[in-house]
Amino acid sequence: MLLPIPNLSIFPLFLFLLISTSLTQPLPSVQDNFIKCLSENSEILIPFSTALITPKNSTFIPTLQSTAQNLRYLVPSVPKPEFIFIPLHDSHVQAAVICSKQLGIHLRVRSGGHDYEALSYVSQTEAPFIVVDLAKLRSVIVDIEDNSSWVQAGASIGEVYYRIAQKSKTHGFPAGLCTSLGVGGHITGGAYGSMMRKYGLGADNVIDARIIDVSGRVLDRAAMGEDLFWAIRGGGGASFGIILWWKINLVPVPSTVTVFTVAKTLETGATKVLHKWQQVAATELDEDLFIRVVIQSSKDSKTGTKTITTLYQAQFLGDADRLLNVVKTKFPELGLTKKDCTETSWLKSVMYIAGYPSGTPPEVLLQGKSTFKNYFKAKSDFVKDPIPETGLEGLWKRLMEEESPLVIFNPYGGQMSRISESEIPFPHRNGILFKIQYLTTWQDPHEDEAKHMDWIRKLYNYMAPYATMFPRQAYVNYRDLDLGVNKKSNISFIEASAWGNRYFKDNFNRLIKIKTKVDPDNFFRHEQSIPPLPLPKGSRTGHHQHSL
Ligand SMILES: Cc1cc2nc3c(=O)[nH]c(=O)nc-3n(C[C@H](O)[C@H](O)[C@H](O)COP(=O)(O)OP(=O)(O)OC[C@H]3O[C@@H](n4cnc5c(N)ncnc54)[C@H](O)[C@@H]3O)c2cc1C
Ligand SMILES: *[C@@H]1O[C@H](CO)[C@@H](O)[C@H](O)[C@H]1NC(C)=O
Ligand SMILES: *[C@@H]1O[C@H](CO)[C@@H](O)[C@H](O)[C@H]1NC(C)=O
Ligand SMILES: *[C@@H]1O[C@H](CO)[C@@H](O)[C@H](O)[C@H]1NC(C)=O
Repeated sequence: MLLPIPNLSIFPLFLFLLISTSLTQPLPSVQDNFIKCLSENSEILIPFSTALITPKNSTFIPTLQSTAQNLRYLVPSVPKPEFIFIPLHDSHVQAAVICSKQLGIHLRVRSGGHDYEALSYVSQTEAPFIVVDLAKLRSVIVDIEDNSSWVQAGASIGEVYYRIAQKSKTHGFPAGLCTSLGVGGHITGGAYGSMMRKYGLGADNVIDARIIDVSGRVLDRAAMGEDLFWAIRGGGGASFGIILWWKINLVPVPSTVTVFTVAKTLETGATKVLHKWQQVAATELDEDLFIRVVIQSSKDSKTGTKTITTLYQAQFLGDADRLLNVVKTKFPELGLTKKDCTETSWLKSVMYIAGYPSGTPPEVLLQGKSTFKNYFKAKSDFVKDPIPETGLEGLWKRLMEEESPLVIFNPYGGQMSRISESEIPFPHRNGILFKIQYLTTWQDPHEDEAKHMDWIRKLYNYMAPYATMFPRQAYVNYRDLDLGVNKKSNISFIEASAWGNRYFKDNFNRLIKIKTKVDPDNFFRHEQSIPPLPLPKGSRTGHHQHSL
């Protein structure tokens, strides 16, 4: 009997194949581990073929870009997530928190993608990171009898407005002007809009919430306690947990609302009219009236000379006759006439301010599409005393030096002054006449970014004497990393208070205390998240119990 003799000539190759396959056998990737963990931790089956998008999928870049607003953070050199996870159910989000924590993967959460510094989809400080995109969690349940609504984090604020208006022409919600904002991020920072003088902020009108904490538990207001419920209404996004739902209080609106836009250029008295606006917009005008000022520089197409255009854009909760009366007695310099005014429904007035051409069907709001997508840098200021005309003239000069600048003045007063600074973390209340937002925008990726950054930083320096001081206040929803960033593992409280006090004033201290209780290991973090206090040595026992 002949024993089969191995063919020695192929043996080395065989061995080589054996060795090489074992060498190239990939270690389970971050993504494989994550998928395995998610499957084990979600009550409801996750369809991974559609819910998990990796850079290899052709839909990766389009998905990343879908709701992202600031093109500066989409260029190839900016870090990209390992993958994007798109939950279809609350329990998928829970599993994502549990698994990210278990596997030590840095997580970013995105609702509407409007973060000015892209913190919801870019981590400049930590790699690898993943994005949990709530775009498919967008239910809005309206209960007119109860004057309330449960809204899911991924819904846009425009969808919320639409769903309310579908059920009632005399209910509304006081939040942002731009309809593509995601309620998940928007309300966490305050959420102001055209009804803020009458009803306060979106965050002032939240009555309950469902949040996923660092252990993956879903907590409502009663379960999370009043400290955490306070912190999430204005303390900024992604520091305390993931908001799944907000329960919001609907407010009454009249069936007839009036809107107008009046333009003043340097040639038609822009400086004097704006000087007067500063004295009346917050303190004298009826709370039903919100007039913001949108300021741009533009070139006369014929003569090539530059001018400044100030657009007075208004929403009035009432009819045109009463509006004319209010403006005539308190702000005649505006020169408002009846033909400037359009009477419409509340929903259409919101669309008007958001910039939709008249006649656009409201259903467009259900698409959650943004009309503002460009390369931009922005900053904000709050003003307590009117800026003198000479100060405005210096502002004009600087605006004329930049190609596509935008400055917006938003009036405060009314209900904003009656809510105390510590009611919620948003502290910009009594005494504030208006907020300024400065923007510079560009469309061409080859533009010199540094030039625009330099311009806006110089403008910010120029405006310092006119802004609040100690601290120079800023709006957390107009995220500005120039104000300072957290270092990855060693947060300096002196550095953090540089931005923390500007966004939250004294509320920053309470936010830090609450953060320390609910997330002592700083799982929910980003460049400007609320830092926890370092725990005293020896106090870690491997698990934490927090009672609020
Ligand atoms: C064009 C434009 C117009 C704007 N207009 C207004 C306005 O009229 N009024 C106003 O107040 N603000 C306005 N803003 C600012 C806006 O409120 C903030 O950018 C807000 O954070 C956007 O929320 P988002 O969900 O769309 O953004 P995202 O980028 O998704 O999130 C913003 C931040 O919140 C975190 N976050 C997101 N979802 C959750 C969640 N479910 N739970 C916990 N944290 C979360 C993110 O990680 C990120 O840190 C505007 C912004 C833009 C770009
Ligand atoms: C991504 O690619 C994987 C592997 O090629 C595929 O199974 C999956 O269906 C793709 N997912 C999406 C959302 O296209
Ligand atoms: C709802 O609001 C209306 C108008 O403000 C009020 O009359 C009514 O009592 C409210 N209903 C509830 C249940 O609070
Ligand atoms: C943290 O920073 C402080 C001062 O900024 C420094 O003294 C300390 O050594 C740092 N600690 C670590 C662990 O890096």
